Amino acid sequence: MPSQDYDIDIMIPESEITAKVNAMSRDISKYYAKSEKLVVVGLLRGSFMFVADLVRRLDLPVEVDFMTVSSYGSSMRSSREVRILKDLDGDIENVDVLVAEDIIDTGHTLSQVLKILSTRKPQSLEVCCLLNKPSRREVDIPVKWVGFDIPDEFVVGYGIDYAQNNRNLPHIGKVRLKD
Ligand code: IMP
Ligand code: MG
Repeated sequence: MPSQDYDIDIMIPESEITAKVNAMSRDISKYYAKSEKLVVVGLLRGSFMFVADLVRRLDLPVEVDFMTVSSYGSSMRSSREVRILKDLDGDIENVDVLVAEDIIDTGHTLSQVLKILSTRKPQSLEVCCLLNKPSRREVDIPVKWVGFDIPDEFVVGYGIDYAQNNRNLPHIGKVRLKD
């Protein structure tokens, strides 16, 4: 196995993530109790684990769809250009849409995604995210459910990558470059 030029320190252990996602699922189930049709839209690839755990606990009929937009590539730096690499498979007109994002940083990615999705006339459009970095925000995003506010650190795990690695970690870790 190649050696990494960074270490990963645990920031949020698996048990805390589980408790938080379960609580979020309970809230979301109550909020959409009267919904005729709810579609959870996960933004790939980072949100796959979050979406899997979130929808598993929803006490509602729910559909799941995914979208891939380009954002960070393989660097740690944020890019403002967002391109759709894979669009939703289904139609979202007149349905309740809940976008599930792994982490909101500057907000540019979600801002673009929300703009695109709202042109398709969903019944409602809300956002939930596992992690949020409020100190990095450049555009305002209405986020209804936030798992954890975290400081300005580069994190990995629970679906989130650094150059496509470390998505499989069950916890959230912070990247510390070795000198
Ligand atoms: P934003 O457009 O700046 O809000 O960036 C959002 C996207 O950047 C997220 O969906 C992640 O894919 C990625 N990202 C932001 N912060 C981190 C991080 O700390 N680790 C890994 N990916 C990140
Ligand atoms: Mg992402």
